[in-house]
Amino acid sequence: MISQKSIQEIMDAAKVEEVVEEFVNLKRRGANMIGNCPFHNEKTPSFTVSPTKNLYKCFGCGKAGNSVGFIMEHETMSYPEALRYLAKKYRIELEETQTSQESIQERQHRDSLFIINDYAQNFYDEQLFETDTGKSVGLHYFKERGFREETIKNFGLGFAPAKGDAFTVKATQDGHKLEMLKSLGLTSKHGRDFFRDRVMFTLHNLSGKVIGFAGRILQKNVKAPKYINSPETEIYLKSKFLYGAYQARKSIRQNDECIMVEGYTDVISLHQAGVENVVASSGTSLTVDQINLVKRYTPNIKILYDGDAAGVKAALRGLDLVLEQDLNVKVVLLPEGEDPDSYLQKVGITAFQEYLKNQANDFILFKTELLMAEAANDPVKKTKLIKDIVSSIARIPDPLKRSLFVKQCASVMDVDENILINEANNMVTELVRKRRQYRQRDDSPRNPSPNNFLKPVPNQEQQGQDGTTKESKSNRVVLEGMQLQEREIVRVLVTHCGKVFDEEENLNVEAYILSNIEEVINDFQNKLYERVIKECLEKVISGVNFSSSYFVNHPDQEVSQLAISLLHSPFEYSPNWITMHNHPLQNQPDPDMNFKKDSINVVYMYKMKKVDQMLSENQEKIKQAQNEKDEGSYMTLLRIHQKLSQMRNDLAAEFKAVVLR
Ligand code: GTP
Ligand code: MN
Repeated sequence: MISQKSIQEIMDAAKVEEVVEEFVNLKRRGANMIGNCPFHNEKTPSFTVSPTKNLYKCFGCGKAGNSVGFIMEHETMSYPEALRYLAKKYRIELEETQTSQESIQERQHRDSLFIINDYAQNFYDEQLFETDTGKSVGLHYFKERGFREETIKNFGLGFAPAKGDAFTVKATQDGHKLEMLKSLGLTSKHGRDFFRDRVMFTLHNLSGKVIGFAGRILQKNVKAPKYINSPETEIYLKSKFLYGAYQARKSIRQNDECIMVEGYTDVISLHQAGVENVVASSGTSLTVDQINLVKRYTPNIKILYDGDAAGVKAALRGLDLVLEQDLNVKVVLLPEGEDPDSYLQKVGITAFQEYLKNQANDFILFKTELLMAEAANDPVKKTKLIKDIVSSIARIPDPLKRSLFVKQCASVMDVDENILINEANNMVTELVRKRRQYRQRDDSPRNPSPNNFLKPVPNQEQQGQDGTTKESKSNRVVLEGMQLQEREIVRVLVTHCGKVFDEEENLNVEAYILSNIEEVINDFQNKLYERVIKECLEKVISGVNFSSSYFVNHPDQEVSQLAISLLHSPFEYSPNWITMHNHPLQNQPDPDMNFKKDSINVVYMYKMKKVDQMLSENQEKIKQAQNEKDEGSYMTLLRIHQKLSQMRNDLAAEFKAVVLR
């Protein structure tokens, strides 16, 4: 692990504007700098860098963070990787702390898997370029397919010789353990080379490290499979892998689109022709993890299908998954008998791109049209088709999009829109119910919005505006009840910690807040907020000073993300509170000077809410005691009620006194 001291050094040295400037053109605008956001496509710049806050934020897509966050996001690096990158940039020597023996071993094990894969790649590379057979068989084959030498190098293509154990012998001679070769699948159980007499494709992870290989057979008409792949290992999980993602990632972001094909050679061929935003699912159906990988770069996917109708229909079934993740899916069907590589070779890049542009169909409409072609005259088939299509539509989380598709599909299938709407609403209900059950079991976070159904269309004239429910697109966190107050406390703590609250008493903001809520910290409903508060408390108790940047640069990514978003969310006084409590709120021109008021407010609001909650719980119990004619409990509960009411009055009085002072 990188030591806290080193992390601090990096954080102190890294200026967000310097880090960002390497990738984004920034112009000065007042105290800030501004440029085109690298995370989404835009024409007018809304990407802002604040040197004083040492943070960036895009007001278009909402992405925000500090230097490390920027590098993680932009370069798709892990936290330690980003730290190492910045350390190198600022020439900071990293100090690594001693971690447990186990994790050292684990890391060494992983490292050596990468080292061996790297060694193997060099071996296959050398075989391809330096041996006679490699050149006359392997290299000849690649060149025949039109791959240029730089492409071959860029994708790490290679050649595995026919001799049964050439690789294994050399690797062990060079000091690599046979056990490790076997665990990577490079050597078979019996000590023979796994890849023999095949051209080799290197599989990279997102940071370009070698995680495995695929080998393609060259002979035709043999029984052996056309491709064989490395087995899954700790560093190669097939369900999370997309071929070409490493080479494509920048271009996917720039084009705000990911093109998906089936074959390795399709990726390479397209990339070489200048279409670089392309990845392959390697012949299997898409997984949620693969989709999420794409989603990190763009919400737009274009899937190219080889031109054979049977295969396409099978593939379409797997695609509802993509819809559920709220991606925009277009599909392109290539002409009969062609795959992307062959079609590109045939018509050239200009015509190819033209074809992609003109033939891109929206997935749902494409599916509808394709299946309608054979169901049109068969009512039974058509009923089934409606259910099928609607079940795709129901998975789309955005109600606005759903209603658009309902309209279009109804027209393609020539059925009444309301039939589709009813059907869709039933399915949405069903999906929500299933998800709830799942969540209760699993506590996993939900994503699609559950309760936005489509309203039936009243009549033709009123269609459009009324036919849909809108959903707020803002990133605001929706919190209920106490959690809202909890968040406000954390917000003020994170924003204003370190500032002097009361000079005479030598009290700073965090001490003021925590001393006021210390006894209820364990009641916090939100575990993340509780974690932050407890960490603050520990620091206050041990007399350690800290400031906002401590949280922004927190090693726990969840905490640092929270801090960043809190620093960007302005405090909003609820109008209710202002009228209810006759609240003399006068914001100062500089919001940063409101910290005393804010601190008093959040403590007061939290306590008030807490008392209100206890009051209403007690009220329930009183009702119950009345119903059960339980005189004893009734009297006790009544006394509690009086106590709580008194507390409430005292709180309000105290609050007014403090504010008016
Ligand atoms: P070329 O025939 O060299 O153009 O390769 P291709 O990539 O176009 O192959 P194809 O269209 O036949 O298959 C698409 C993808 O499916 C390949 O890139 C592989 O990832 C996968 N695939 C094809 N055949 C096999 C096989 O026999 N075994 C495995 N594991 N995967 C295969
Ligand atoms: Mn092919």
